[in-house]
Amino acid sequence: MMNKHFYLEKDDDGIAWLHFDMAGGSANILSMDTLDALDQALINAAQMHPKGLVLLSDKPSGFLAGADIRAFAKVEEPEQAADQIRKAHRVFSRLENFSFPSLALIHGFCLGGGTELALACTYRIAETDSTRIGLPEVRLGIFPGFGGTARGTQMMGSLGAMRMMLAGRAYRAKQARRIGLVDWVVPERQLRNAASQMLNNPPPPHQPPWWNALVEFAPLRLAVAELFRHQVAKKANPAHYPAPYRLIDHWRRTVGDFDAMLESETRNVSELICGDTAQSLIRAFLLQERMKEIGKQRPFKAGHVHVVGGGVMGGDIAAWCALRGLKVTLQDQSHEQLQRAIGRAHTLFKRRLRDRRLVMEAFDRLIPDVRAAGVAHADVIIEAIFEDTAAKQALYADLEPRMRADALLATNTSSIPLETLAEKLADPTRLVGLHFFNPVAKMMLVEIVHGEATDNDVAANAAAFARQIGKLPLPVKSSPGFLVNRMLMPYLLEAVALYEQGIPGPVIDKAATDFGMPMGPIELADTVGLDICLHVAAKLGEAFPLALPKTLKQQVDVDRLGKKSGQGFYAWKNGRPQKPAIEKGWRGKPEKLRELSDRMILRMLNEAVACLREGVVADADLLDAGAIYGTGFAPFRGGPMHYIQNRGLRNIEKRLNELEKRHGEQFHADSGWHALA
Ligand code: NAI
Repeated sequence: MMNKHFYLEKDDDGIAWLHFDMAGGSANILSMDTLDALDQALINAAQMHPKGLVLLSDKPSGFLAGADIRAFAKVEEPEQAADQIRKAHRVFSRLENFSFPSLALIHGFCLGGGTELALACTYRIAETDSTRIGLPEVRLGIFPGFGGTARGTQMMGSLGAMRMMLAGRAYRAKQARRIGLVDWVVPERQLRNAASQMLNNPPPPHQPPWWNALVEFAPLRLAVAELFRHQVAKKANPAHYPAPYRLIDHWRRTVGDFDAMLESETRNVSELICGDTAQSLIRAFLLQERMKEIGKQRPFKAGHVHVVGGGVMGGDIAAWCALRGLKVTLQDQSHEQLQRAIGRAHTLFKRRLRDRRLVMEAFDRLIPDVRAAGVAHADVIIEAIFEDTAAKQALYADLEPRMRADALLATNTSSIPLETLAEKLADPTRLVGLHFFNPVAKMMLVEIVHGEATDNDVAANAAAFARQIGKLPLPVKSSPGFLVNRMLMPYLLEAVALYEQGIPGPVIDKAATDFGMPMGPIELADTVGLDICLHVAAKLGEAFPLALPKTLKQQVDVDRLGKKSGQGFYAWKNGRPQKPAIEKGWRGKPEKLRELSDRMILRMLNEAVACLREGVVADADLLDAGAIYGTGFAPFRGGPMHYIQNRGLRNIEKRLNELEKRHGEQFHADSGWHALA
C-alpha cells in the first residue's frame, strides 16, 4: 500500500512497517501535506490489524528533520498556526492510541517534529553512530508544539525533558538513551532485528524516575521553575528571546495534565511563532539555507587540500579540513609554527571527535609538509601567509607552475585586493578568495571573494568547497574589507572612540549586548587582537574616510594586544577579561545605554547601506546573512537590513542626521539611503 510519501508493508510476523520517503526532497519533513499523508497511512496500517507498527525512514539523511520551517515564515495569524498544531496533535494522538504497540526506528537526523512523532510511539530505537535527536525549537524562537512538551515530560521526567528543550541541542544515541529519550541503541545492521524483537515481545514502556513526581508536585514546582529561569537567564535575555521563559511558564502551569499541556502548547506556540523574534530567527535559518544552496551550484568535491602558512588562520583552516574528512598537507617555512598548529589541531580533534580511533584518523589526514610536496596533487590550495603583497605574489609564482591545471587557488587575505594579488599570475582567472574568520572552528561564514578576473566557475567551486567542509559560503566582491570587516570596523572604531571619551569598557560592552550583540565591541577587539584591528582599520582607512582613534595605536605600540598578550583594553586572566563593575551612574539607565548603542549600531547600518549600494554583496538578504553569521549581528533582529525595515528607514536616517550634527561627519548618511527609500 502506498501514497505519495509513505509505503506500508506487513511481514510474516504480522508486524506492519511504515516507510516515510517524502516525495521531492532529500530529507523528510512534516508539512501539512505529509501530515495528511501520514494520517492516511496510519489509518491504513490500523486496518491491517498488525501485531505492532514500525515507523522508519527510507532517506539516508535520517528519520525526520522536523517541521516545515518555510511554512512557519508564511504564518500571519496565530489562529492559522493553531490549526496546523491541532492537526498534528490529532494525527499523533491517533498513533499513540492504537491498540497495538508502535516503534520509531531512528537513524540520522530526528529533530523537532521528528522527535515529537517518535515520542508518540510506544518505543524508540536509535542507530548508534548517525543519530542526532532533539527538540531544538527554542533556537527558532518557539518551543515544541506537536505534543513534545506533554509527551517529553511524561517519558523522560520534567527535569530531563525541560533541560533538553531549554538547551535546544541535539543528542547522540547514547546520550539520548541515558536521558530516557530512546529505549535501545543498536548498530545499523541490527536495526530491523531489534525492532522485530521488541514488538514480538513488547516490554513495559519506559517510565521516568520515581522522584519525577516530586519535581512536579505543586509546592515544589514554583521553586523548580525559578531554577530553570535562573539557568536560562545566563544565556538568553527575556526581552530578546521570550520562548524559553514562555516554555517554563507553560510547564509550571500545566505539567501533569496532558490535555491542558496540549491546549497550552497550541496557544503559546501559535502566538510565539507570529512574534518578531521567531520570525527573525526563522528568517536567519532560511538565510542559512540559501547560503547552503549557493554551495550546491557545482558538483565540485575536494579530496586533498594544501594549505600554505601554518599560523593562526592557516593552521586552524588545515585542522578544520582534516576534521571534516579531507586529506590535508600543511606547508610553512617555520617548523615551530607547524608544531604549534599540530598541537592546536590535536585539541580540536579531541574536543570534537572524542573517540580515540577517530582522533587518530583525523591526525593521519593532517600532514606537515615543509617541502611543499602536496602542491602537485591538491584539489584546493589555500594561501594563508603574512598579509604582504610581495610575499603572496612571490609564493604564487612558485605555486602556479606546479599546481594541477584544475586545482583551485584560494587566498585567505583579509585586505589585499584580489586584482593586485593576481597581477603576476599566468592565469589570473583561477584566483579566488576564501576568507575565513577567526576562530575558524567557531565561525560558520566564509566569504567567497570574487576578483575582477575570477572565473565564475572557480568562484562557484570555491563555494562548493566551503560547503563541503560545513561552512556557509557568502559571495562578495573584492573591495576593501569585503563585506564583514567593512561593516564591523566602523562599529568597533566608534566603540573605541567612546572609550577614548572616557566611557568605561564594560558600559560600552553592555550597551551592545543589550542591543543583542553576542559580545561587546571592546571585548571583541581584545579577542580579535588590537594589532589586527589596527591593521584592518588602517587598510580600510586607505579606501574610506575612517578616523582612527589614537588609543588603538597607543595600545599596540606598547604591546597591549588584547587577549593574546594578557592585556588590552581589559586585563585577561585564564582566557577571560577582568571587567571592572559598572559604576552607579550607569546602572538602571537604559536610555543612556541606548544612546551609546545607537552610535555604534547606526554606523554599522550606514556602512551596510553603502555596501549594498556598491554591490559588495548581491542583495539585502545576503547582506543580513553575512552580518548575522560573520559579525554576530543580533540574530533575533534578523540582520541590519531587516532591522532598518522594522525600525523605519526614515527614523534611522533622521537619527543619523542628529548624530552627525552632534558628533561629526562619521555619521553622515550614505547616499544609498535614498535608493532604499
Ligand atoms: P600568522 O602570522 O599567524 O601566520 C602566517 C604564517 O605564514 C606564519 O606561520 C609564517 O611562518 C607563514 N609564512 C609566511 N610566508 C610564508 C611562505 N612564503 N611560505 C610558507 N609559509 C609562510 O598570520 P595569520 O593571522 O594566520 O594570517 C594569515 C592570513 O590570513 C593573512 O592574509 C591575514 O590577513 C588573513 N586573515 C587573518 C585573520 C586573523 O584574525 N588573524 C582573519 C582572516 C584572515
